[in-house]
Amino acid sequence: MTTPAEASPLIAVSNLKIQFGRGGSLVRAVDGVSFTVARGETLGIVGESGSGKSVTARAILRLVQTPPGRYAGGEILFEGEDLLTKSEAGMRAIRGNRISMIFQEPMTSLTPVLTVGYQIAESLRLHQKLSASEARKTAVALLQRVRIADAERRVDEYPHQLSGGMRQRAMIAMALACRPKLLVADEPTTALDVTIQAQVLALLAELRTELGMSIILITHNFGVVAEVADRVAVMYAGAVVETAPTAQIFRDPRHPYTKGLLGCIPRLEGNARRLNAIKGSIPAPGGLPTGCRFHPRCPSAMPICAAQDPPEIEITPGHMTKCWLDSQPAAEVAP
Ligand SMILES: Nc1ncnc2c1ncn2[C@@H]1O[C@H](COP(=O)(O)OP(=O)(O)O)[C@@H](O)[C@H]1O
Ligand SMILES: [Mg+2]
Repeated sequence: MTTPAEASPLIAVSNLKIQFGRGGSLVRAVDGVSFTVARGETLGIVGESGSGKSVTARAILRLVQTPPGRYAGGEILFEGEDLLTKSEAGMRAIRGNRISMIFQEPMTSLTPVLTVGYQIAESLRLHQKLSASEARKTAVALLQRVRIADAERRVDEYPHQLSGGMRQRAMIAMALACRPKLLVADEPTTALDVTIQAQVLALLAELRTELGMSIILITHNFGVVAEVADRVAVMYAGAVVETAPTAQIFRDPRHPYTKGLLGCIPRLEGNARRLNAIKGSIPAPGGLPTGCRFHPRCPSAMPICAAQDPPEIEITPGHMTKCWLDSQPAAEVAP
């Protein structure tokens, strides 16, 4: 049986490798990452800071600076085309048009000296050749769509005149102007207070349905994943260690790293405990351990874990994990 994600994914990332530096100081920031996103699906990518989430996100838009970065392998098939082999002009036609990205800090996408409306309309003028007045009208409609009150006035304001939550909404409006097929959202709510965070997540979920787009939602917060993702990929030290439908990962997390993250799930309502309640810290990507990259921190580590990287196995349809606990015959698992 195939799930929709396997039948015709909108995007299929396979064995993606991104490295920084060279020789002795080689940093394997993304080290063989694979995942797919179906049309209309929201995939949550979750993991501690430094696990390679943002580099993966930027790679999808081919925004990793080279050098110091290097696309060292793999492919990113988007609607059947490999983004890693496209020309820069080909990528410009895709960015902000078929694939958009939003970031944690809206000010990295919004220019302080231009009005919000001008910036939202910019991609419309570029990709859809709208006239200035048509573009402004669309910008107002987009601000209304992201539930910004008084859009007719806000459209002529500058980013500093908006609150943090409003700026994030304006950035979403900008990202959605051309009705992208895929929205890559990198920690889109991390900088917001919890009430606004919940509102922005609800807005993203609504817009996803309205526009029929897919979302890759990157976060270090399992609470955010629970809120909006259909499926989850858990990243650790540059690799995906577990993938499953969201309900399944909460019901039956298999990888000890996933269990660790879930054991210290920060709640949206506040009192967030940090994910690094897992003992130890993520290895520097320049000094990955042998075998399973999580074994030095793993409470269930066995001798084989230090020696060999575990294969990926499927627990139930769509639930994949990379852990020797699940790959060994039960009798061989340590007592
Ligand atoms: N320009 C760069 N030069 C060197 N190392 C980098 C660069 N960008 C990212 N890295 C490294 O790649 C790793 C993954 O980073 P990142 O994707 O930002 O993690 P996350 O988003 O999961 O917190 C980190 O160890 C980071 O230091
Ligand atoms: Mg990041």
